[in-house]
Amino acid sequence: MPGTCVVGLQWGDEAKGKIVDLLGDQFDFVVRYNGGANAGHTVVANGKTFKLSLLPTGVIRSNVHSVIGNGVVVYPPRFLEEVDTLRAGSIDVAGALSLSDHAHVIFPYHMEEERLAESAVEGKIGTTGRGIGPCYQDKVGRRFAIRVGELLHPKHLRERLNLIVPFKNRLMAAFANDQADAFKPLDAGRIADDYLGFAQRIRPFVADTSRMLQEAFSRGKRVLFEAAQGSLLDVDHGTYPYVTSSSSLPSGIWSGAGVPAKNVQRVIGVVKAYTTRVGQGPFPTELHDETGERIRKIGREYGTVTGRPRRVGWFDAVAVRYTAALAGADEITVMLLDVLSGLSELKLCTAYEIDGERTQHFPSDAFQLERCKPVYETIPGWNDDLTAARTLSDLPASARRYIDRIAELAGLKVSVVSVGPDREQTIQP
Ligand code: IMP
Repeated sequence: MPGTCVVGLQWGDEAKGKIVDLLGDQFDFVVRYNGGANAGHTVVANGKTFKLSLLPTGVIRSNVHSVIGNGVVVYPPRFLEEVDTLRAGSIDVAGALSLSDHAHVIFPYHMEEERLAESAVEGKIGTTGRGIGPCYQDKVGRRFAIRVGELLHPKHLRERLNLIVPFKNRLMAAFANDQADAFKPLDAGRIADDYLGFAQRIRPFVADTSRMLQEAFSRGKRVLFEAAQGSLLDVDHGTYPYVTSSSSLPSGIWSGAGVPAKNVQRVIGVVKAYTTRVGQGPFPTELHDETGERIRKIGREYGTVTGRPRRVGWFDAVAVRYTAALAGADEITVMLLDVLSGLSELKLCTAYEIDGERTQHFPSDAFQLERCKPVYETIPGWNDDLTAARTLSDLPASARRYIDRIAELAGLKVSVVSVGPDREQTIQP
């Protein structure tokens, strides 16, 4: 199985890291191809817990080479901070981590632009505030973008920043037209000094990662692609405009890692046994009641990057069918089933109603999705603690029925059921 992708089929935070961890020994390379430091993941290694947001989960495995592909947007201080944190925990990534020279660089003005845009009343997206969107805007806009490879050329970098920063200052001054949004103009020379300092430390990691991966495939190496965010946040197919600015579906691999799609032969779709979402945007099965509160509390549903409470709702099979088809998922893994213990009944959304009409299709435009009412099927719950279950037969009948119904509705086999955060708390039917 040379190329495999692990992808979330909801709005992110589906516990993809646990699946990557379970598969970890089976791969030589682990690759991120989209997003940036907006993708919080917690990993445990050497008995220590590390909170990462930019480096791939695979970075904790000594026998795996980790790659940050060209489709990722990189904030150099965060990159170095995560490398240092790992080193302090006795994980030295030197020689085992590569950063694409074509990845785009996040600068302080990207974060400032995002802060100003998000503080405007109109068009708030509820972003993570990491400068992701403005950096991708510059990438596509071309005029003001800087790629990792350019950081290694001091004269060139200074010239570029001398051109870009004054323009950005004018732009931000126009944005910050009221007192609450006041900002201090940024200094091109100072940013250049800082980034040239980062560049010295980043240099050993910089590589042509597309070629590296193409060669890896030709040598028969096994490569795992770690999608960041979830498919419903994909910039093309997600609940636009309440999405992230990159391709979080496996379709992003070809452009974001420089690896032709034919190399990706297995797609593992990851879902939670319920649904969560962070930030703005429609969420048809959202719960605003005690059940939602309970799931948030037991599932510890608070954002890893921003600490924001996640919005919580029932499992939405309409949405998952839609993303599973787009992702080309071969199987699904159902995470956090244990969190649902103690609820007398569970609901699964099997269809939507729009203007009195029933539909099985997911309208991804936010303005259409907002009008959708979920049609539910109710399934009896269970009281048993599931965290010690290791086979399907250890589960109560109602939990088994719930999993079977998710598989039927998604039209896919369930290859993993997770009943707790530890590697052992896993059922592989
Ligand atoms: P951005 O990616 O910071 O631009 O945020 C855009 C939207 O994607 C917001 O609703 C964020 O909350 C959401 N988002 C971004 N990254 C993640 C993630 O890793 N998990 C869940 N939601 C995310």
